[in-house]
Amino acid sequence: MAKSKTIFVCTQCGHETSKWMGQCPGCREWNSFVEEVKMTGKNTRSAQSASPVAAGSSKVQKLNDIIIDDDVRLKTKIDELDRVLGGGIVAGSLTLVGGDPGIGKSTLLLQMCQEISNQGKKVLYVTGEESLKQIKLRAQRLKVDGKSVMLYAETSLQYIEQAIKNEQPDILIVDSIQTIYSDDITSSPGSVSQVREVTSAMMRIAKQLGLSTFIIGHVTKDGAIAGPRVLEHMVDTVLYFEGDRSFSYRVLRAVKNRFGSTNEIGVFEMVDSGLREVSNPSEYMLTGKPIGESGSVVTCCMEGTRPLLVEVQALVTQTNFGMPRRTANGTDYNRVNLLVAVLEKKVGLQLGSHDSYVNIAGGIKVNEPALDLSIITALASSFRDVPVKDDTIVFGEVGLTGEVRGITQCDQRVIEASKMGFTTCIIPKANLKHLDKIKGIKIIGVKTVEEALQYVRR
Ligand code: TYD
Ligand code: MG
Repeated sequence: MAKSKTIFVCTQCGHETSKWMGQCPGCREWNSFVEEVKMTGKNTRSAQSASPVAAGSSKVQKLNDIIIDDDVRLKTKIDELDRVLGGGIVAGSLTLVGGDPGIGKSTLLLQMCQEISNQGKKVLYVTGEESLKQIKLRAQRLKVDGKSVMLYAETSLQYIEQAIKNEQPDILIVDSIQTIYSDDITSSPGSVSQVREVTSAMMRIAKQLGLSTFIIGHVTKDGAIAGPRVLEHMVDTVLYFEGDRSFSYRVLRAVKNRFGSTNEIGVFEMVDSGLREVSNPSEYMLTGKPIGESGSVVTCCMEGTRPLLVEVQALVTQTNFGMPRRTANGTDYNRVNLLVAVLEKKVGLQLGSHDSYVNIAGGIKVNEPALDLSIITALASSFRDVPVKDDTIVFGEVGLTGEVRGITQCDQRVIEASKMGFTTCIIPKANLKHLDKIKGIKIIGVKTVEEALQYVRR
C-alpha cells in the first residue's frame, strides 16, 4: 500500500526536508520551502528515479556497433530554431522551452507546428492555459492552418497519455507544464512534486514511443523555471526565450543540449503576424543609428559563438544637482561608474560635474568586458561633442590604470565588422599579433585608452 507523508520542498532547488526551515541549506534561498504530500510505498513511481532507461531492457553493446539513422533529426524549417536545437528535432527528445510570460513561447511553438505539419508530420498541441478557441484565433493571426495539427485542451496527465496513445503524434507540445497534474500526487498543479512527476512521465513517454516532446515552462520572478531548477536535469534540452517585452527583439538560447552545442542563439523579431527570423542580427541592431552624431559608437559583442554588432550611446551633460547622475541601460551600472572614473583620472575629463547616461540601443543586454572601450569612447565623444568616425568600430577591455587589455574571439569580431562594411577596427594591441590580415579593413592595436581616443576622432 502507498502511504502519504508530509515533506517540505524548496521551490528554488528542490531540496527536501522533513521540517520547515527559513533558509534552504541547498541553495541558501530564504522562505522558499513549501509543504507537499509525498506518496511512499511499493506501487508509487518516484519522480526522482525516473529514467528513460528501463531496468533490464538493455544489453551491453560496442560503441562502434550502434547505428544511427541519418534522418533522426526533423528540421523545423525555422533556421534560427533548428540551429539552437543543434540541427533539428531529435526523435524521442524532450525539450523544455522556458521564458517570461508573454515573451512568445506559445507563438514560437505554434509556428513550428505549421512547418512540421507541412512536412506531413502529425503534431498534438496540448494546452492547459488557453481554450481551443483562443488558440484558433491566434493560429488565424499567425496564418497557421496545418491540416495535421491536433489541439487538445486538457490538464490531466492520465487523459493526455490516453490521447497520445489514440492519436499517435510525431511531435507533442505541452503548454504549459505548470498547468498539468497527475492523479498520483495530491499536491496542486504547478507545485514542485507535480511538475517533477509530470515531466518525468513525459520523459518516459518520449523515450518509449520515440515521440519528440516540447514542454513550455514559465519562469518565476527570480528567473528559474517553475521555481524548481529540478526540471533542467531531467530533460534533454533546455531553451530559454529571452527579451524585453517593450522591444520586439527576442533571443532563443540553449542552456543545455544533449544533442548539440549550447553556444548557439536564435534571433527573432515579434511583429503583428508572429515571430520573424532575424538572420542578420547585426544589421537589425544597427538600423536607425545616427550618422555623424557625438556619443554614438559601434562595438561587437559575442552572443555565444555569434558576433553581434551593437550601438553604444552615451550622453554627458552639465549636472544641475550637487551629485552627478549616472545611469546604465542594457549594461552593468557599476562598470559604467568605473569607466567614468577611469576617464576622469587617466584621461583628465572633468566628468565629476556632469551627468552621464549610457544606453545600448535596441533593448539588448550585454555584459562583456570587451564592451568597455566602446563605452569609454562614447562617453568621451559626448563630453567633447566630437563624433566618432562612422566607419570605425571599437572593442577592448579597459583596466583600472587606463590600459586596454586583450579580449577573446577577436578575429570573429573583426570579420563581422568587415562584413557589415566597417573599414577601421580599434582593438587591443595584445590581440594584434594573433590576427590574420583581412582585406578592406584597417586594424589599429591600442595599448591605452588615451591612444584609442586619438584614433576615433572624426
Ligand atoms: P505568447 O506566445 O502568448 O507568449 P507566452 O506563451 O510566452 O506567454 O505571446 C504573447 C505576446 O506576443 C503578446 O504580448 C502579444 C505578442 N504577439 C504579437 O505581437 N504578435 C503576434 O502575432 C502574436 C501571436 C503575439
Ligand atoms: Mg503561452
